Amino acid sequence: MATPQSPFLFHFFLLLCFFAIVARAQVPANKTFKIINQAEFGEYITEYDASYRVIRNDDYTFYTFPFRLCFYNTTPDAFIFGMRAGIPNDEDIMRWVWDANRNHPVRENATLSFGQDGNFVLADVDGRVVWQTNTANKGVTGIRLLPNGNLVLHDKNGKCIWQSFHYPVDTLLVGQSLSIGGRNKLVSRTSDVDGSDGPYSMVLDGKDFYMYLNNSGESLIYGGFGGLTESVVTFDAVPENENATAYELVLNLGEEELAPPPSSRRLLQSRPISSGGRRNLNKVNYNATYSFLRLDSDGNLKAHTYYEKVSYLKWEETFAFFSPYFVRECGLPSKCGAFGLCDKRMCVACPSPKGLLGWSESCAPPKVASCKSKSKSSAKVDYYKIVGVEHFTSPYLEGEGPMKVGECREKCNKDCKCLGFFYREESSKCLLAPLLGTLIKDVNSSHIGFIKY
Ligand SMILES: *[C@@H]1O[C@H](CO)[C@@H](O)[C@H](O)[C@H]1NC(C)=O
Ligand SMILES: *[C@@H]1O[C@H](CO)[C@@H](O)[C@H](O)[C@H]1NC(C)=O
Ligand SMILES: *[C@@H]1O[C@H](CO)[C@@H](O)[C@H](O)[C@H]1NC(C)=O
Ligand SMILES: *[C@@H]1O[C@H](CO)[C@@H](O)[C@H](O)[C@H]1NC(C)=O
Ligand SMILES: *[C@@H]1O[C@H](CO)[C@@H](O)[C@H](O)[C@H]1NC(C)=O
Ligand SMILES: *[C@@H]1O[C@H](CO)[C@@H](O)[C@H](O)[C@H]1NC(C)=O
Repeated sequence: MATPQSPFLFHFFLLLCFFAIVARAQVPANKTFKIINQAEFGEYITEYDASYRVIRNDDYTFYTFPFRLCFYNTTPDAFIFGMRAGIPNDEDIMRWVWDANRNHPVRENATLSFGQDGNFVLADVDGRVVWQTNTANKGVTGIRLLPNGNLVLHDKNGKCIWQSFHYPVDTLLVGQSLSIGGRNKLVSRTSDVDGSDGPYSMVLDGKDFYMYLNNSGESLIYGGFGGLTESVVTFDAVPENENATAYELVLNLGEEELAPPPSSRRLLQSRPISSGGRRNLNKVNYNATYSFLRLDSDGNLKAHTYYEKVSYLKWEETFAFFSPYFVRECGLPSKCGAFGLCDKRMCVACPSPKGLLGWSESCAPPKVASCKSKSKSSAKVDYYKIVGVEHFTSPYLEGEGPMKVGECREKCNKDCKCLGFFYREESSKCLLAPLLGTLIKDVNSSHIGFIKY
């Protein structure tokens, strides 16, 4: 094995590799940049009441109508590198449609750099790398913001090596996908002020495309589309006809990202809960090419569309999953805040042991004694009854059983996390609730809720 030539050969190959890498990995020196997060803030209003700094230098504008790269912040000295949609003269708030580092904000004087090796890096002021594309020495020669809002690093043939479209956060732009092989979920932000990962997610898992509420690590289903076995879902705006007088917002299912097969199903058109058939809903009567679909911080899934031709309020809400025309709004767990009974889009009551009281934002579920002091408190647990009600998971989970209502109650007694149970008399199914939130009024009086107190 150790022939006399091998050290020479080894060096020869090392040299070859070296040249190969150098030959592939050239961003021309005059196309590299280092942009520092400093200087003045923009003066226009953006979503989340955020302040922003446009990212640009003499060579790069990073602006392709209506998209632009910025640093933005909602709390002092905690900046996100993100993408904005909409322009200052719109007389409407500009929207944030992509974030690079939402869980790791950077400070004043952080740097965004694109080096000759082709890596695109966000480093905090102390030099700590917070986010990067991991594209060093992969043949990247340039960076470009495409007209659809896709930020791409490409090689000398224009082939895409890295693209922001593969890293959706809470938002899909038109043409952007979730996929089983890549990023397969949207995750809401915590609130307007807090842009870090929030409790709501929408996950493509090879079986379904459901919405979940993370309740201290436990995923509670509350919406979405079942029976969806495709590995790719793409948000799209499809012209209604050849003259394109109107567009339809759709979710295309299928492998091909760029050209979905014509047979692909159009999800946003059909009512996902069994009671519905198809519905002609969010048709947009104008060019909907600039649209985005987002899982909002309240858990709702909404689309907004930008219509250039109006003079103000250009972003219009063009779809909402929980809305009068799609799935009943009472199904949104956060609809009535911490607790409340929801009927026909309104929070109508605050259920209490004394009966149904008027609802206000301070309505909260009864405090249940902590489980640790078991021997003392468990005997004192009682329930009050609400007739004709469903839990937000009820449309998706039928519950356990059949069993008697007493058994269901016993299960909830024994389960520290159980805050109440929902019983269906006709099927004798038992559903335990680890979180209450919004209760859905149900005309069927054989569906009964029992709240622990
Ligand atoms: C950048 O450098 C290349 C040669 O490496 C040259 O052809 C090009 O004109 C330069 N571009 C600018 C904007 O200076
Ligand atoms: C940022 O850097 C500039 C110099 O480039 C310096 O004057 C300023 O104090 C720095 N700001 C912070 C907050 O470190
Ligand atoms: C769910 O929330 C807990 C904190 O309550 C967090 O530790 C966990 O990472 C979250 N899980 C997911 C899947 O987001
Ligand atoms: C498209 O426009 C042309 C000319 O205005 C008209 O003749 C044609 O019927 C239109 N097609 C559709 C599908 O509306
Ligand atoms: C719709 O808008 C997009 C983006 O501006 C444009 O490329 C496209 O041509 C428009 N479609 C029609 C039918 O005008
Ligand atoms: C309640 O639901 C059960 C089962 O779905 C059905 O048999 C019954 O007729 C319903 N009752 C009312 C009042 O709608």
